[in-house]
This record gives sequence, C-alpha cells and structure tokens, in this order.
Amino acid sequence: MKLLHLDAGLIEEQSISRALTARIVERLQATTPEVEIVYRDLVKHPPNHLSGEILAGAGLREGARNAHQREEAEITDMLLEEFLAAEVIVVGAPMYNFAIPSQLKAWLDRILQAGRTFRYTENGSVGLAGGRKVIAVSARGGIYSQGPAVDSDFQERYLRAVFGFIGIDDITVIRAEGVAMGDEMKQRALNTAHEAIAETITSAELA
Ligand SMILES: Cc1cc2nc3c(=O)[nH]c(=O)nc-3n(C[C@H](O)[C@H](O)[C@H](O)COP(=O)(O)O)c2cc1C
Repeated sequence: MKLLHLDAGLIEEQSISRALTARIVERLQATTPEVEIVYRDLVKHPPNHLSGEILAGAGLREGARNAHQREEAEITDMLLEEFLAAEVIVVGAPMYNFAIPSQLKAWLDRILQAGRTFRYTENGSVGLAGGRKVIAVSARGGIYSQGPAVDSDFQERYLRAVFGFIGIDDITVIRAEGVAMGDEMKQRALNTAHEAIAETITSAELA
C-alpha cells in the first residue's frame, strides 16, 4: 500500500496537526507493515502559487514553454504522479483564518488538473481520482462542528468538496477543535482526536 503523508502546520515543534498526522502514519505502519510512505512537507517545500505564466505554460507543448514554465510543469507532474500513486493520503490541515493553509491550497492547485484528476462532461464534472482514501487532520482553535461558527468552516467543508470533486468520497476527518480555548479544552480535543485515530485505523479497514 502506498501512502502520501502531507503536512502544512506552520510551526513544526508546536503543530497539533503534524503531531496527529505522525500518530496516524505510525499507527498505519504498525497495522500495515508493507506500507510505503512518501512524505511531503508543504511548509518547508511549498509549491509556488499558480501565476499567469505557470498557467499559460501548462497549456503549451513542452517545446513552446520558457525555462520557468518547463520547471513548473515538471513540478506539477511530479506532484500529480506522487498523488496518483498513493492509495491513502494523510493530510494535516490546520485551520488558518477559517480555511486551509495557503501552502496546502497551492498543492491542491497542482492536483486539480482537467484530464488527470477530473473532467467536464455535458452532464457536469466527473472525478477521475476515485478509489483512494483521504484521512484529513483538522486542527482548529475554536469550535466549528456545532454552535454559531458552523458556517465559518471553510476548512473541513472545503476539503470534502475538493476531494469529492476529483472523485474521492472516502474521507475521514480526525478533528482536534477548541485547542485555543484553554488547557482543559485543548487536552480534551487531543484525547478525542487520539481516540478517533485508534478507532479509525484498524488493520481490518485498510487490509
Ligand atoms: C495564522 C493563524 C490563523 C488561525 N486562524 C484560526 C481560525 O480562523 N479559526 C480557529 O479556530 N483557529 C485559528 N487558528 C488556530 C489554529 O487553528 C490552531 O492553532 C491549530 O492548532 C493550528 O494547527 P497547527 O497546530 O497544526 O498549526 C489560527 C492560527 C494561526 C497561526
């Protein structure tokens, strides 16, 4: 089984999402010893944000691209191949300003490619990357699963929408929320997340 492990928490030593993705991967290694892991740190090595030049280059044949466009097209291909080779994707997705980190968005901008991960038809879009499993870690300071801020969640809902768009509806979210609401709430959130990891990752599920 091939696994792609992505992290996007900004401060490595303090990141809750990083600690939880590491725990998930550790557990997967224990339950599925033959797992092959590719790790990508999207903060240390962020893909460039798309620019007009990069986007234009994607539509050109190789010989017509300038050096920058060639380099960026190679990065897009490499990220896509890495993603498409994986059966399981473990993604650390902190909530920053109600949404995902821009580094993770920049990665998604390379992964959502017409003809590779989705296509448009007369009846709407069709996802081409189905059959994969996504385990997303959601870490957030406040509470968005219930209460007045539910509609401000552009993180978990966005991830479900974007992976769903490319055909992946098998998404498990491991959530640690309320981590900025005092020590007790933080500890409770971490305990809940660890319990969810233990329940989610069993050898039976990924066999
Ligand atoms: C730049 C920044 C923006 C944040 N924005 C939000 C937010 O909009 N809502 C929220 O509940 N928490 C917010 N937080 C708190 C984080 O979601 C929380 O610290 C979480 O643990 C981040 O994941 P990490 O520890 O892996 O970085 C923000 C934190 C930072 C650093």
